[in-house]
Amino acid sequence: MSATSAAPAPGSQDSSGDSRELRRALGQFATGVTVVTTRDPASGHAVGMTANSFSSVSLEPPLILWSITRTARSLPAFLAASHFAVNVLSAEQIDLSVRFARPAEDRFAGIAWREGLGGAPLLPNLSALFECRRVASHEGGDHIILVGKVERFARFERPGLVFAQGRYGLVADHPMQQPAAAPESGRDPHPYDDFLIPLLFRAYETLFAAFSEELEAAGTSGPEMRILAVLSIRPGANFDRLTRAAYLGEQTTEAALARLIGAGHVAGDRRTGLMLTESGTARLAWLIRIAERFEAGRMGELGPGEVDRLKAMLRRLAGTGG
Ligand SMILES: Cc1cc2nc3c(=O)[nH]c(=O)nc-3n(C[C@H](O)[C@H](O)[C@H](O)COP(=O)(O)O)c2cc1C
Repeated sequence: MSATSAAPAPGSQDSSGDSRELRRALGQFATGVTVVTTRDPASGHAVGMTANSFSSVSLEPPLILWSITRTARSLPAFLAASHFAVNVLSAEQIDLSVRFARPAEDRFAGIAWREGLGGAPLLPNLSALFECRRVASHEGGDHIILVGKVERFARFERPGLVFAQGRYGLVADHPMQQPAAAPESGRDPHPYDDFLIPLLFRAYETLFAAFSEELEAAGTSGPEMRILAVLSIRPGANFDRLTRAAYLGEQTTEAALARLIGAGHVAGDRRTGLMLTESGTARLAWLIRIAERFEAGRMGELGPGEVDRLKAMLRRLAGTGG
């Protein structure tokens, strides 16, 4: 190949060099991960293999391509079949990527797949799906380039799996990118919102307002839940300690505590010590289930793994490890 006139960047290679280095350089280009499937017309068997060479070609007509190594055992099936399906894996499907890249008796064993156009297997829980008629195959060195016309496709609300530098990754917004337009919040953005503490506070306010609505619908309130939670980890706390640990004002604590004592969920003496009754413990367990459901619903807006990372970072900031 001809060398460019510009001086190569440090660490760069001519691509005529070592193919391992070429592979590493190509690995700098992040891709999604697909499992391309078909039905072998000769045997009638389902066939599929992991591929990240998938690429869009044309919108009108709708064409895509992927390339298959000449040594793939699946090659004859893909060249003989009229259709193939490009199953774009979602972030939680690393196991499928690994499975369809390894030799196995039956890669589809135990997977609830369904049949698509031309009998090509369609996998569950994808990020996107393209069902294609094979319209061309081209020589491509040690690979064959298969071009498909998209006859049917689907997009699912699941982030895709990413592959870069020989490793699996997740889709995440770049911190320097403007955030996607947020739904109308009824409040103008303020320069302070770029600072961590106001941001944390706003996130808390927004989440807590929504959670409070759910608690009210369940016939309770945030302060009641906090009091139950504090008494579960600090049984015997007196009124002052309880107020401080629950981050509540005295009046709010008093009103919520009176309701909890009246309902039989808390017993004891405000001065010498308060504790949960059996019904208070059961009520807290029920409220925690409501909180878990709420979190699962709300945190669904974040990507997989992001919630755990966020919690770990917040624990570090809070000085409680993580
Ligand atoms: C992330 C990833 C991407 C891959 N992409 C391709 C590809 O685009 N084309 C290809 O021929 N093989 C690709 N492979 C390798 C094949 O999946 C692997 O060689 C597979 O065993 C071929 O199956 P077969 O020999 O049963 O046909 C990829 C493997 C992985 C893990």
